[in-house]
Amino acid sequence: MRAVVLVGGFGTRLRPLTNDLPKQMLPIVRIPMIERVIAALGSHGVTEAVLSLGYRPDAFLDAYPDGVCAGVVLHYAVEPEPLDTAGAVGFAARSAGIDDTFIVVNGDVLTDLDVTELWNFHKGHGAEGTIALTPVDDPSRYGVVPIDDDGRVLEFVEKPAPGTAPTNWINAGTYVLEPSVLDRIATDRKVSIERETFPAMVADGSLYALHSDTYWIDAGTPETYLRAQLDLIDGVRANEQAVLNSDEIDTSARVENSVLGSDVVIGNGAVVTNSILLDDVTIGPGVRVHDSIVANGARIGPDSTITGGSVIGAGVQLPAHSELSGARVPESN
Ligand code: GDD
Ligand code: MG
Repeated sequence: MRAVVLVGGFGTRLRPLTNDLPKQMLPIVRIPMIERVIAALGSHGVTEAVLSLGYRPDAFLDAYPDGVCAGVVLHYAVEPEPLDTAGAVGFAARSAGIDDTFIVVNGDVLTDLDVTELWNFHKGHGAEGTIALTPVDDPSRYGVVPIDDDGRVLEFVEKPAPGTAPTNWINAGTYVLEPSVLDRIATDRKVSIERETFPAMVADGSLYALHSDTYWIDAGTPETYLRAQLDLIDGVRANEQAVLNSDEIDTSARVENSVLGSDVVIGNGAVVTNSILLDDVTIGPGVRVHDSIVANGARIGPDSTITGGSVIGAGVQLPAHSELSGARVPESN
């Protein structure tokens, strides 16, 4: 079984974390996001993953120099320019010579979806394409997908205005596609699978979808990047180890419901809750960090307060007594 994994976006919503790293190379509790996505596919029988690359392809090539990730063989397809989601699928599938039923996933989705069940549903319905659907509270940030009793898609509405969505079931970013879908995708321009290819398939009655309420999160925003990790340590999804080598954490410091990378230093009296500290972060004495993300090598000066979903980029040095709430440092547009 082969899968195309879309990992070529700019990760704009995660800046500054993505200033020099594609979002799928960011760690999710110390394992690169891409590795967790590919491991999940491997557990459902995927043996080859075609990475659809655009922004910073070298980060992936450097991380998996022998062309294997989580036991799955990688094929790299680097776009000459961003081709949008369907253009990227077409480019990657053609470059890998895909000519049989295949899987597509958005590389920033972490889920326990039963891909085997999706595959079997697709085959059982003789569909040209089948989309996994998940329920969310606010569908306006996603592709909204109403279906009939047989699972046939009635409409595909990408990012509808708030309050106008016909259902709360959204495109979960995993598809099973027949190779005929590739014939629908132009080769010489950007094509959006959500705005162009799927609506055309709806019109032909060849697109199906399957509801699933298993664990699902799109880790593409600071809030969900944080939550995807806390869910892995607090039992919502798993109970993974939250803190690595803790020798440098002062005994008077308090660390609660947070993920710490390697070689993190935390000074006396500091308090860290519901936060992510990546590798080599230094938290000065008396600092408070709540609901925030601090990237590799950043140093937070003594008695600072970092709260409200702040994102502190790699290598940033904050002076003593900094007060930040909902801030991004450095600022990015
Ligand atoms: N190769 C390549 N080229 N990849 C791209 C491109 C491109 O031009 N544009 C986006 N991607 C990749 C991103 O890296 C990501 O893995 C995936 O395609 C989806 O792009 P996002 O930017 O994360 O889209 P989204 O989260 O706003 O919406 C999409 O995902 C939702 C579910 O998480 C849509 O598919 C929605 O319909 C869906 O509900
Ligand atoms: Mg996304």
